[in-house]
Amino acid sequence: MTLLYTSDAVRGRVWRAIFAQEAADIGFIEPPEPYDPAAIRYLAAWSPPAELIASLPNLKILFSIGAGVDQFDMAGLPPHVDVVRMIEPGIVAGMVEYATMAVLALHRDLIPYRAAQADQRWAPIKLVPAEQRRVGVMGLGQLGKAVLGALRLFGFALSGWSRSPHAVEGVTCHSGAAELDAFLAECDILLCLLPLTPDTRGILCRDLLVRLPQGAMLINAARGGHLVAQDLLDLLDEGHLSAAMLDVTDPEPLPPGHPFWSHPRILLTPHVASMTRADSAARALIANIRRHQAGEPMDGLVARGRGY
Ligand code: NAP
Ligand code: GLV
Repeated sequence: MTLLYTSDAVRGRVWRAIFAQEAADIGFIEPPEPYDPAAIRYLAAWSPPAELIASLPNLKILFSIGAGVDQFDMAGLPPHVDVVRMIEPGIVAGMVEYATMAVLALHRDLIPYRAAQADQRWAPIKLVPAEQRRVGVMGLGQLGKAVLGALRLFGFALSGWSRSPHAVEGVTCHSGAAELDAFLAECDILLCLLPLTPDTRGILCRDLLVRLPQGAMLINAARGGHLVAQDLLDLLDEGHLSAAMLDVTDPEPLPPGHPFWSHPRILLTPHVASMTRADSAARALIANIRRHQAGEPMDGLVARGRGY
């Protein structure tokens, strides 16, 4: 029973040590060390090549190194292979920090103040109390719910949107296409934390963004593929949207000269909202292997047909 690990070498060293200490019965292989492909039951990878998958006749589970699984070619995976996304406290903590920073940056007018500083203009903007700022989160999963829990402490008027109905304390929850309009109408700041799937690709497009209140602001910390870049640029130029903070772009890295780099009302970060933490991720993965061995449901098992 062996795990093949094909990702970052620094994280690999941490994982190897934790597996040796806490799960010595599970073999840990990291190329280029040699291995018997038939012995590999588990693969932990970000974006494994099709040839690697095809070379592992007894592969049972593909573990994503990150929260997302959109980087996998689901259609090319053998149907019996389970796909599991990474659920671990480090990813959640990073996203809670980032989303809080982004919401506060937009709420407290960091973008106009950055422009005023560049012009040496002392130009105070009237404060909007948090309870008068409506913040909506698309995606009420591991990350969306944790982010809403943190934002609640500031007193924002919170709403959320998901595929199926949820109840989150202090949050007006909406679900499905039928409730999307009602949700969007409540978002002065819209934060996308959806998985990228065939249903959500391009969801942040003109048709959706025009349904936000005039002057609304957008944060995308999910995937670049959710956003139609030109639609955002047009709506900023037309004044319907007033600002955006983007952690993710399509493609990544963002190519030199892309209009996002120099747009005065866009704040950019290079896909750093949260990162898998080596130690807690190794332990989360071992716990999932133990669940699998005990015939219990694994945390983060992906419904392959649904894409998340
Ligand atoms: P998750 O636990 O799977 O939650 C996904 C949420 O999105 C669920 O509430 C789900 O609804 C909702 N959803 C999915 N498809 C939908 C649709 N078509 N319409 C409406 N709602 C839909 O995922 P997570 O762990 O919170 O992570 C979300 C995403 O964040 C990841 O997939 C990844 O792309 C991104 N991420 C980014 C970074 C970064 O550094 N920028 C880091 C980590 C993760 P239901 O609850 O009804 O199923
Ligand atoms: C990062 O983007 C992740 O999916 O964990």
